[in-house]
Amino acid sequence: MAIDKKFIDQFINVTSKAALASSYLVGKKDKIAADKAAVDSMRKELNKINIKGKIVIGEGELDEAPMLYIGETLGTGNGPEIDIAVDPLEGTNFAANNLPGALSVIAISEKNNLFKAPETYMEKISTKVNEKNVVDLDYTVKQNISNLSDYLNKNPENLTACILNRPRHKEIMEELKKLKVNLKLIEDGDVSGALLVTEEKYNVDIFLGIGGGPEGVLSAAALDTYNCNFQGRFLFKTDDDKLRAKQMGIKELNKKYELNEIVSGDTIFCATGITSGDLVSGIKIKDNEFISETLVTHKHSDLRKVIKLKQNL
Ligand code: FBP
Repeated sequence: MAIDKKFIDQFINVTSKAALASSYLVGKKDKIAADKAAVDSMRKELNKINIKGKIVIGEGELDEAPMLYIGETLGTGNGPEIDIAVDPLEGTNFAANNLPGALSVIAISEKNNLFKAPETYMEKISTKVNEKNVVDLDYTVKQNISNLSDYLNKNPENLTACILNRPRHKEIMEELKKLKVNLKLIEDGDVSGALLVTEEKYNVDIFLGIGGGPEGVLSAAALDTYNCNFQGRFLFKTDDDKLRAKQMGIKELNKKYELNEIVSGDTIFCATGITSGDLVSGIKIKDNEFISETLVTHKHSDLRKVIKLKQNL
């Protein structure tokens, strides 16, 4: 069953209103307030939609997040059963410091088609090459680059790899440098980082490294519509993390998940810019209107597009 196309505009409205709410706090050095503004707006707008929605990826569990917590039901209750993954403010530092790349993000699927990812790290890899055994989480960096270089018929020095700039990636970055691969280092925001493999214009051939697990699921939802490749493996620091994951239904903690084990069926993905970044421009306010840009994908109708909207404040 496909998700009705009529919902696309309604979810664009959700992320564009959340982005607007957060935009008032851009550059105020207060990431909690910027996040809260996006969360409150998202919840209010989601509750107007005719769905039986359930948060599967949200702001945390009920005890730590009074709103948009995992398991919270949203929508009017009249309509299809929908799983919802949200990141109302992806890139809290970007918003707080008025830096490029802050987004408001949502992904929805039919019930039980989005992976319920715990709040833990995930080792990730994405490329535009959707063929098995070219790029794989189990291969070394050297093997992946050599395979990708052969497959794309590009020398490694003409390949670009996107990775979060973190000390934990020192070895990967050194290996990539040794192989003469160009780096695109991002300071935050790996939902967007993973999506840079989707189109030639971004000039990124591979995204890799460790980032948030929930962010991995959100990226995978959009990558599916672009027919790109994504793999993820959760990483758990403590026994408590492992226990929580098991309670959430994850049986094999060390499993490498393929894209379609993370996301299946029909999906809608929306990411609206709060500040301007690689994917979309940020919110612009003029007189009584605001302009938003949203990257939208809908698997069933093969929609992948940036939608620019002018709305009244
Ligand atoms: P927030 O918006 O929650 O601050 O997350 C930003 C982010 O960069 C994510 O995109 C990424 O998955 C994660 O943080 C990486 O975590 P860490 O900063 O611990 O490396």
